[in-house]
Amino acid sequence: MFKKMNSKIKLGILGGGGDSLIGILHRVASSMFDQYEIVGGVFNPELKESISFAEEIGLATDRVYENLDDLIEKEKELPEKERMQVLSVLTPNFLHFPMAKQLLENGFHVICEKPLTTTYEEAKILEEISNRSKTVFAVTYTYTGYPMVRQMKEMIAAGELGEIHKVDVQYYQGWINEIIHDKEKRATVWRLNPEKAGISSCVGDIGTHAFNMVEFLTNLEVKEILADLNYLYKDNRMDIDGTILLRFSDYVKGVIRSSQVATGEENNLTVKIYGEKAGFKWEQENPNYLYFMREGKPMEVLKPGHSYNSAISLEGTKLPPGHPEGIFDSMGNIYNGVAKAIKKQDYHPGEFPGLKDGIRGVNFIEKTVESHKNGNIWVNLES
Ligand SMILES: NC(=O)c1ccc[n+]([C@@H]2O[C@H](COP(=O)([O-])OP(=O)(O)OC[C@H]3O[C@@H](n4cnc5c(N)ncnc54)[C@H](O)[C@@H]3O)[C@@H](O)[C@H]2O)c1
Repeated sequence: MFKKMNSKIKLGILGGGGDSLIGILHRVASSMFDQYEIVGGVFNPELKESISFAEEIGLATDRVYENLDDLIEKEKELPEKERMQVLSVLTPNFLHFPMAKQLLENGFHVICEKPLTTTYEEAKILEEISNRSKTVFAVTYTYTGYPMVRQMKEMIAAGELGEIHKVDVQYYQGWINEIIHDKEKRATVWRLNPEKAGISSCVGDIGTHAFNMVEFLTNLEVKEILADLNYLYKDNRMDIDGTILLRFSDYVKGVIRSSQVATGEENNLTVKIYGEKAGFKWEQENPNYLYFMREGKPMEVLKPGHSYNSAISLEGTKLPPGHPEGIFDSMGNIYNGVAKAIKKQDYHPGEFPGLKDGIRGVNFIEKTVESHKNGNIWVNLES
């Protein structure tokens, strides 16, 4: 009689409960390539809520814990092959650092939501511990998982655009409009509370995605930035809109435009990269169309799943061309990359964003606020 072997990676989740925005995305993404099994976690600060959420999603409640201390203690008592191997940190920003730090110190792999931490200093501490712990650390800059984003990165690396001269990345949302004009309402949202979100709302939440896209796609480092932020009200401590000029060098420049008060906008992340020979345009809300614009030639539209795409792009496409893929697939591709790393299998460079990306992101957020507060001056990013 054969005994069925369960080789799935045992995944725990912190945050991401029934009341959360991002939990469902991670749960679906983790199941997409049949690589993970969710075995428990702390979904909510209230144990009662965590348990009733586990019951709701059909998860056994014996490994739903009151807090992370309990989780670590009890999981470490289990035989190694049953123990949680990796935990996804899906809580509000201020908990990312203490949770990720504790997980690293106890030998768990970590998948952490962005922004990695609320300060650069914390991010560097995680780097230091991670270098010692030798565990896998991913930061879920979700949009890097889209097949056409991966295709764009590969084509840029292959020199299809020639030397890059200009990048323009916009991330426009309008959701804070409903909240920001009402003093009482804005006090209820953690993204507008510096104790919970860190020093920035708009740049911390979405400008950081735009920044990550710039560096992920071009493989270039932004050296200096100049920011102009908008807080809209004197008593509002958090930016809700920002324009940030980027300098890679004297001849390579760009701009990030991010807003949470772009009325009527949903998740309009639009990337434009222009090189000497050609340009790319890609929109998150229509992610299966990549516009390739060559000097003197008609515009081409590249789509996922075709043999002209690169290996990493094709691996992220699960059905024949024409079956639309979206944000769930994008995050699923990131989880798949992390699974390969945990299983010590080969994976493509850029298959999942890591600590370096997370640290760059936090540095960008801090320097953006510094530039604005010091009178919109140029500031250097750490290299
Ligand atoms: N990658 C992306 O595209 C993306 C999109 C949205 C949110 N995020 C990030 O995901 C994180 C969560 O955002 P959200 O919008 O889901 O927030 P949310 O407020 O909707 O959900 C937060 C969840 O964390 C739980 N929680 C709070 N304190 C906890 C604790 N001490 N222990 C356990 N659970 C706790 C809450 O009960 C809730 O389930 C943030 O860091 C955010 O920046 C990333």
